[in-house]
Amino acid sequence: MEKFNAAILGLGGMGATHAEAARKSPYIDKIYGYEPDEERRNTRCKEIGIIPATLDEIMADESIKFISIASPNETHVELAERAMRAGKSVLCEKPMGTTLAEARHLAEVEKETGAFLQIGFELHYSKMYKQVKDWINAGLIGTPVNNQCRYYCCEFHKKNNWRSNSTGSFLIGEKLSHYLDLQRWYFGETPQNVYSLSAAKVVDYFNHRDNHQILTRYPDGKIATLNFIMYIAESHTGHDPLRDLLEQQVDDGHYLQYHICGTKGAIETDVFRRRIRRWEFGDSPTNMTSKIVETITFPKEEDQIYFHNVEGQNIHVIELIAKGKPSEMTAQQAYETMKLCFAAELSEDTGELIDFNDPRLK
Ligand SMILES: NC(=O)c1ccc[n+]([C@@H]2O[C@H](COP(=O)([O-])OP(=O)(O)OC[C@H]3O[C@@H](n4cnc5c(N)ncnc54)[C@H](O)[C@@H]3O)[C@@H](O)[C@H]2O)c1
Repeated sequence: MEKFNAAILGLGGMGATHAEAARKSPYIDKIYGYEPDEERRNTRCKEIGIIPATLDEIMADESIKFISIASPNETHVELAERAMRAGKSVLCEKPMGTTLAEARHLAEVEKETGAFLQIGFELHYSKMYKQVKDWINAGLIGTPVNNQCRYYCCEFHKKNNWRSNSTGSFLIGEKLSHYLDLQRWYFGETPQNVYSLSAAKVVDYFNHRDNHQILTRYPDGKIATLNFIMYIAESHTGHDPLRDLLEQQVDDGHYLQYHICGTKGAIETDVFRRRIRRWEFGDSPTNMTSKIVETITFPKEEDQIYFHNVEGQNIHVIELIAKGKPSEMTAQQAYETMKLCFAAELSEDTGELIDFNDPRLK
């Protein structure tokens, strides 16, 4: 098996996960790491167990075929473009840029260079959400018509870092792009229009909004809602609530639930209860009936595989690259998800219902 080298750009929390995934891939030989600040680069590379390198060295080194980008959002497009133009295959964390123009530009560069580019919508590789897609594809809930996501968490972004200092509707791209992407994936359709509201901020040191209620209409009367707040849930001292401590969070105000209702049944995913359920609708002489026919639970050890499978995604993407296969989520598909994110932001900025073909979304 021919092995190649990898480089990780951005060595914070997610960069360490990307490095770990590359280490587990049978296709990867050496792993290099880049951070702009030399001292931090050396420290983080030592901590993670990878080789420090400058950006110029990484781009010029032909043995480095795979680049994964886990730097702050505003650096994604510049780094991904540079890597693709240097002939690298790229896995870039979401969001695909901080403006829609950036996202479109990246899709254009992918087309122009023919390079491999996949944006890190890892929920496609997380067992919980993949199970939903499989049930929908098998026709078990009929036609999905109504898609709802409730996501309440604690504030874990901390004061005065690149996240809390970002502006506008930053959290839509940063966190909710995953769940808006699921809507599109489950319906298999392009949205028609979007209306989104955001209440006054509660987290006063955020430069961006901290809550969102996003309503999206899809063809044939299908609708989706997403309700997000970054408070209520009890604070904890860990990192991302999705990475640890689920037991403590199950009944303290954390919610990450998704309901997909179809014409013949429904599905619920519940991260904090580690549970997926499926309902089947039926008929009786007096009324419509509904019954829970399948319940899947999973142990703590499988948390990441079930609902946050960045590692599985990365290992799989490296395999695609090794085998010369195309990206499984095209840049154009990722762009459509980002368009939905920016349509919601535009709606919040203007108070308008935004048509998906609105010229301001070009
Ligand atoms: N897919 C997911 O579920 C998921 C989860 C968490 C984070 N993310 C994404 O991963 C990215 C990183 O998040 P994080 O939590 O690791 O952030 P972080 O702040 O912990 O790490 C970012 C790192 O990038 C470095 N950096 C800054 N500018 C850089 C540049 N120009 N080039 C290279 N590195 C640079 C910083 O010094 C820092 O070490 C973000 O885009 C975030 O949205 C995705």
